[in-house]
Amino acid sequence: MQKLAIHGGKPVRSQEYPAWPVSGPRELELLQQVLFSAQWGGYHEYVEEFEKLFAGLHDARFGIAVANGTVALEAMLQGAGVKPGDEVIVPAHSFIATATAVSRIGAKPVFCDIERDTFNIDPASAEAAVGPKTRAIIAVHFGGVLADMDRLARLADNAGLLLFEDAAHAHGADWKGRRAGGIGLAGTFSFQNSKAMTAGEGGIIITNDADVAAQVRSLVNCGRKPGHGWFDHFELGTNLRITGFQAAVLLAQLERLPEQIRLRQANAELLNTKHSTPGVYFQKAPEGAVVQTLYVLPGWVDEEVLGATRDEFLEALQAEGVPARPWYPHPLYANPLYEKHPYRKVSCRVAEQACKDSFWLPQRTLMGNDEDTSDIVRAIDKIYQTYKPETTAVQ
Ligand SMILES: Cc1ncc(COP(=O)(O)O)c(C=O)c1O
Repeated sequence: MQKLAIHGGKPVRSQEYPAWPVSGPRELELLQQVLFSAQWGGYHEYVEEFEKLFAGLHDARFGIAVANGTVALEAMLQGAGVKPGDEVIVPAHSFIATATAVSRIGAKPVFCDIERDTFNIDPASAEAAVGPKTRAIIAVHFGGVLADMDRLARLADNAGLLLFEDAAHAHGADWKGRRAGGIGLAGTFSFQNSKAMTAGEGGIIITNDADVAAQVRSLVNCGRKPGHGWFDHFELGTNLRITGFQAAVLLAQLERLPEQIRLRQANAELLNTKHSTPGVYFQKAPEGAVVQTLYVLPGWVDEEVLGATRDEFLEALQAEGVPARPWYPHPLYANPLYEKHPYRKVSCRVAEQACKDSFWLPQRTLMGNDEDTSDIVRAIDKIYQTYKPETTAVQ
């Protein structure tokens, strides 16, 4: 048996996985265009070009680029008419912004459970969360695998709710050929540093609804309206515009996205084909989620079968040269902020279990060659060979 790196053995790999973010001469070329123009902010022409391209690629007529994915969510909810006192159903696991966007506009998040296999919002739990004040659902496409948009759309239709998508992880992903963000009433994306395409910070709201688009645009541009003066303000808006520099970088990043998705998807397929170690399981994409961004690859550990806890497993995996991190430490409602702000929840048993047994691999672990991907499999199996329980060892 090979000695684990945490026990002083030779690690499976000593080379780093490819670095993130990725950039090249194209970013530089477009950045220079902005730099040598007189329009760094206040909507450089690249902003409009990027908004049109990105929205079009995600099956939406309108795109409104903003400062980040957090404010994108707030602007989307407000622009679509979610009001103080309304309830909005969100999964108990996501980045905090999915819930705080609801709270910050004076509405109340209602936390529901996630599915074990996909890590996405569980439509049955979302249905159980609907109450008389419920106005909307936000689906989060975790890691870039789409939530079951058929079931969520049916639920929204039947219950008369608005359906939104927090597609912060899901650039370029689809559900049965329809792209993330363009399926519900509106969707948001993040371009923060670690995301599948990035300008360091940035976000966008996309929608097919002209009224929502106009309202969001006004809210994020100081309440202005097209055809009126720079100093004429019609809504209680704010300034959430992005700069020309961000748009320049995003235009270049968008050109690279399809190839990067293909690479990650091919590597994820290879990983899933080769990996059969008992006790370690990776996210399963439902059939409808054909194109998957794989911004992160979530997984979970069955401690009884593997013979190691999630944390022992992660410590060993990292020492073998595979970057990985534990799942969120607690469901969103267990954050101290929700001791001060109202929320409601239904049973979130899976979400609570995920805090104990789940983890994720960052996208860069799926951006190397076949050998780099196979190292993940080797490292996991090496850990199992050391920890496997006696009973399993005999079989
Ligand atoms: C699911 C989800 N929603 C929203 C956000 C917020 O995006 P940003 O960091 O651009 O504000 C993030 C960012 O990490 C996220 O993961």
